[in-house]
Amino acid sequence: MGVHILSTGSSVPNFSVENHYFEDMIETSDHWISTRTGIKKRHLAPSSHSLTQLAAEASNNALSAANIKPADIDLIILATSTPDDLFGSASQLQAEIGATSSLAFDITAACSGFIVALVTAAQFVQTGSYDNILVVGADTMSRWINWSDRSTCILFGDGAGAVVVGKSAKNSILGFKLCTDGQLNSHLQLMNVPLEAQQFGVTEIPQGHYNSITMNGKEVYKFAVFQVPSVIKECLNNVNISIDEVDWFILHQANTRILEAIANRLSIPFSKMITNLEHYGNTSAASIPLALDEANRSDKIQPGQIIVLAGFGAGLTWGAIVLKW
Ligand code: UT7
Repeated sequence: MGVHILSTGSSVPNFSVENHYFEDMIETSDHWISTRTGIKKRHLAPSSHSLTQLAAEASNNALSAANIKPADIDLIILATSTPDDLFGSASQLQAEIGATSSLAFDITAACSGFIVALVTAAQFVQTGSYDNILVVGADTMSRWINWSDRSTCILFGDGAGAVVVGKSAKNSILGFKLCTDGQLNSHLQLMNVPLEAQQFGVTEIPQGHYNSITMNGKEVYKFAVFQVPSVIKECLNNVNISIDEVDWFILHQANTRILEAIANRLSIPFSKMITNLEHYGNTSAASIPLALDEANRSDKIQPGQIIVLAGFGAGLTWGAIVLKW
């Protein structure tokens, strides 16, 4: 059974913050942020704009682009690390868009989440279990930032991206490779840190609270620049496609310098890398589907072209998918 990406959609909050705003908050500069990361502004969700709402907006855009009714969706996979509900927000999303016949569940794989979710969806279509699947990558990282930590607070933005995948004679997903190295987990975390505890005799049962994001930027940078080109090469090799045959690379938008270094290692022109960091910063699980949607809606990517998607981030996790658009 072939798996085809029928449509894309995305959404970001209206409110945005430019780099210079941070100059009054922390010791930084627009120059440092733009030259070290490529980011110029990021969109941030106010308290009235939930993760579920952002995901629903992106989903509705993808559903109307595919001309598919919510009731025709069999499965919703929501990739997020920042659900409104720790039990998962896919059910809230299902209710919000009225996809009443679908199973809905979350996947947590940080910035690789959308890649993992798309591969998961493809398995369900290929086995004939489901016909139409809504795959969403959405994150509100702003809710989990320590705004006085200059090494992380300038990086992240909020957003959501979605695709509808369906069974088809045409096959879009030619190959994939997903990886995890849990030994490197401490380099990027959002840890549960008990602040209070209930005493049962001598035993303390901790209350759940989460810390803000902590990141060893240098280590994550080195990991991305080393592992991402290697997983892309392996993935392309497995499906007998040469690097020169790839029309576009849509990678997780973490840092323009990371994308430049990866392009260098792959010996490809940077013009083949689709980037939108300048406008959105790092939107975690949303970054790949957001960039994919923009490239699709602007007709940058064309039917028949070969596209490589690749994600990397906390876990540490990374992975690539080779698509025929
Ligand atoms: O999506 C998940 C995956 N995440 C990533 O891929 C992020 C990967 N890492 C990065 O993108 C980069 O490591 C950062 C953008 C986070 C940092 O850039 P860097 O070039 O690696 O900077 P650095 O950490 O080596 O810091 C260089 C200097 C330090 O000062 P000293 O020690 O040289 O005096 C930092 O304290 O820059 C300082 N610095 C800042 N200065 C101004 C760190 N953050 C800032 C800041 N403004 N916002």
